Amino acid sequence: MIEPDTPARAGRELRRRYTAADLGVFTRDEAIRFIPDGDGDPQTDVVLAWELLYRLEPELYDRLARAERLHPGILNWLPEGADRIAEVGAGTGRLTLELIGRGREIVAVEPATGLRRILRRKLAQTDHGDRVRVTHGFFDALPLPDDFADLVVACSAFTPASGHGGEAGLAEMERVCRPGGCVVIIWPNHRAWLAARHYQYVCFPGPMAVEFSSCSEAVELSEIFYPRAAEAVRRSGLRRVPFEVLGINPPRDLAFKVLAG
Ligand SMILES: C[S@@+](CC[C@H](N)C(=O)[O-])C[C@H]1O[C@@H](n2cnc3c(N)ncnc32)[C@H](O)[C@@H]1O
Repeated sequence: MIEPDTPARAGRELRRRYTAADLGVFTRDEAIRFIPDGDGDPQTDVVLAWELLYRLEPELYDRLARAERLHPGILNWLPEGADRIAEVGAGTGRLTLELIGRGREIVAVEPATGLRRILRRKLAQTDHGDRVRVTHGFFDALPLPDDFADLVVACSAFTPASGHGGEAGLAEMERVCRPGGCVVIIWPNHRAWLAARHYQYVCFPGPMAVEFSSCSEAVELSEIFYPRAAEAVRRSGLRRVPFEVLGINPPRDLAFKVLAG
């Protein structure tokens, strides 16, 4: 069993990929949220390093997200037959593609241009009957009217930090959700924060593994994203790696709130 990374070690290899010189990739609106003081150092700030990954190496992020599949219990739990669904921080569509067939109209909001491009490419290869619209936006300024959706959802994207949601972002998600509708945070990273805001928690049991496309991809991506486990992954020679080997919690849970009708 690998001990979880301490904050000082978290994302060590990812942080090494980028420098402060890369911060120029942020648009003005992104800089306001991700580097509010005007500067930052991705070599010490792993959250910043992730934001740079989405913009500088979106295909690399997509390879990771394809491998880290959601627990089927999450998908089964989500309501069927919604009229409208809004997803925030849609990325390259790990959840978005699963939402097709669950709603008449789906709006996927994503700030990073490269991730939106990949999501649009995937949708172009999918028969979704023009039901999915991909658009730019942020948690704290959703480009959607009040009471727009029956289901408002974020997957591995919302955090209590103001640049990645926070109070303003949660209020926005609830604003665009109709009375009686449901706001869902998938793979929440701050359960107590959400519980204090009347979100209920659901966790789905059972073994889970990261499904890399090949053994060599398992080694390559482990070296970047799970460096403490890379040697164990290399030794195993497997492309399917249990989450406990990687030392991270699996995408098996969600927090939700049904808005008063
Ligand atoms: C870990 S990725 C998850 C992407 C996708 N939902 C998935 O499950 O693969 C986090 C996502 O949140 C988005 N994000 C970060 N800050 C955001 C903000 N303030 N508003 C909306 N999305 C944001 C990122 O661009 C990225 O797509």
